[in-house]
Amino acid sequence: MPQPILILLFGAGNRGADSYGPYSLTHPDQIKFVAVAEPETTRREKFARAHGIPVKYQFKSWQDALNAGKIADAVLNATQDEMHHDSAIAAMRTGYDMLLDKPIATSLNETLHIIQTAEETGRLLMICHVLRYTDFFQKVNQIIKSGQLGQIINISNSENVSYFHMAHSYVRGNWRNLANSAPMILAKCCHDLDLLYWFLDEKCTHLSSMANLRHFRTENAPEGATERCTDGCPTAETCPFYAPRIYLESIPIKQAVSRASNPFIRGFGKLTLDQPGIAKALGKLIPPLQTLTEYSGWPRNTIIGASQSDEAVMQALKTGPYGRCVYRCDNNVVDHQIVSMVFPSGITATLTMHGHSHQEGRTLRIDGSRATLLGKFSYSQAWIEVHEHITNQIKRYTFPSEVDQTAGHGGGDAGLLEHFVEAMRGQKPPLTSARDSMESHLMAFAAETSRLGNKTVDMNTFRNL
Ligand SMILES: NC(=O)c1ccc[n+]([C@@H]2O[C@H](COP(=O)([O-])OP(=O)(O)OC[C@H]3O[C@@H](n4cnc5c(N)ncnc54)[C@H](O)[C@@H]3O)[C@@H](O)[C@H]2O)c1
Repeated sequence: MPQPILILLFGAGNRGADSYGPYSLTHPDQIKFVAVAEPETTRREKFARAHGIPVKYQFKSWQDALNAGKIADAVLNATQDEMHHDSAIAAMRTGYDMLLDKPIATSLNETLHIIQTAEETGRLLMICHVLRYTDFFQKVNQIIKSGQLGQIINISNSENVSYFHMAHSYVRGNWRNLANSAPMILAKCCHDLDLLYWFLDEKCTHLSSMANLRHFRTENAPEGATERCTDGCPTAETCPFYAPRIYLESIPIKQAVSRASNPFIRGFGKLTLDQPGIAKALGKLIPPLQTLTEYSGWPRNTIIGASQSDEAVMQALKTGPYGRCVYRCDNNVVDHQIVSMVFPSGITATLTMHGHSHQEGRTLRIDGSRATLLGKFSYSQAWIEVHEHITNQIKRYTFPSEVDQTAGHGGGDAGLLEHFVEAMRGQKPPLTSARDSMESHLMAFAAETSRLGNKTVDMNTFRNL
């Protein structure tokens, strides 16, 4: 059996511990976490226990871990966006190759600095553009390149962020304010911009973008809405963003349903979405249903940790950021944005991002001179249809939806780790170089420049600034 790649994890949070962590337990021949850097004691200890990491390799920060010298083959950097720059540069200078979660950094200068440091030091740097590693987008790419669609004319992609994801991450949570995080088009859509570059093998020449924060503003608060959902808010029944529903009632069941592989559990979960009390009571009597009723994954785990009681979650809502009224937060990132792009061959593309969808997912339409491709990529379903102009024939491809944590992002999280191992072992080059990953970030920063300045950005000039 080949030796696994030894990994030092920076940040045992949602991505580090829950999305990437389990892969090493199911693929012990590929990666092994030998050290962890995480300031939150419960997270650090839980991760260390799960991976058998000795106390001397449990660090309170990435800085402490680097002070110990080089103790692993590579770093998996899953710290928050604004920490990427300093931690990535320091780790590469210490001699580590790195898998760095997106976005590369929160400003264009810092992004460029990271890429240049990887090139100067000769370190392998892979960015977690997980969608490239999904069967779904691999198939889209293959269909485009096969010529089945004829000459590509226009691509229209929508990133439909669910209303509760928007409220959780971009109104109440970590990515709500530009002072502490990246613009939403970078944080949420650098994957989509990366896909365009990958599909077309061309760099966008001009781009314009418009956006605003329409809904999550004080003036839209319903009459009588309280500062916190838990203050006895009179609009609890009618407000889609009522926090106890998101963290304790129907949304956890909805999340569990979308991850359940057993059709009985899925069906039962759908029936009880409006009756979380009944679901909980039945879960006590029928143990398999506990996968629904005791769901403790995202978004609940990000506010208080996975194994906490309902009472502890309620307490966190009463005191912490996630119980605040969505109309009275310190958020300033947009809740919808459009980006229009043109490429050297004349292909046009639009990306629509918004945070008001009934369910999370992407919808895609590609029109070519010979056929149209339609696609949907969401937690609960993933399919592609190719409609041929001459024959009217439809070819349909379906893909399994997400069934467990290690298959996060439609299998993209696991695919990414597998490719990272192959790249580390010199078996295959990464699907994309760090320099190529930068193109999507350039497009996102240009979109932000365009929306703030109300102008079209000439990308060739922007790239050379
Ligand atoms: N690839 C994707 O599709 C994808 C999806 C979601 C998030 N992300 C990105 O992944 C990254 C992590 O996001 P998350 O949701 O896991 O965030 P998180 O807040 O859950 O995890 C970050 C962790 O870093 C820890 N940390 C803070 N200071 C530290 C320090 N000095 N040293 C080491 N660790 C420190 C925090 O305590 C926290 O546990 C972000 O950059 C985010 O944008 C990527």
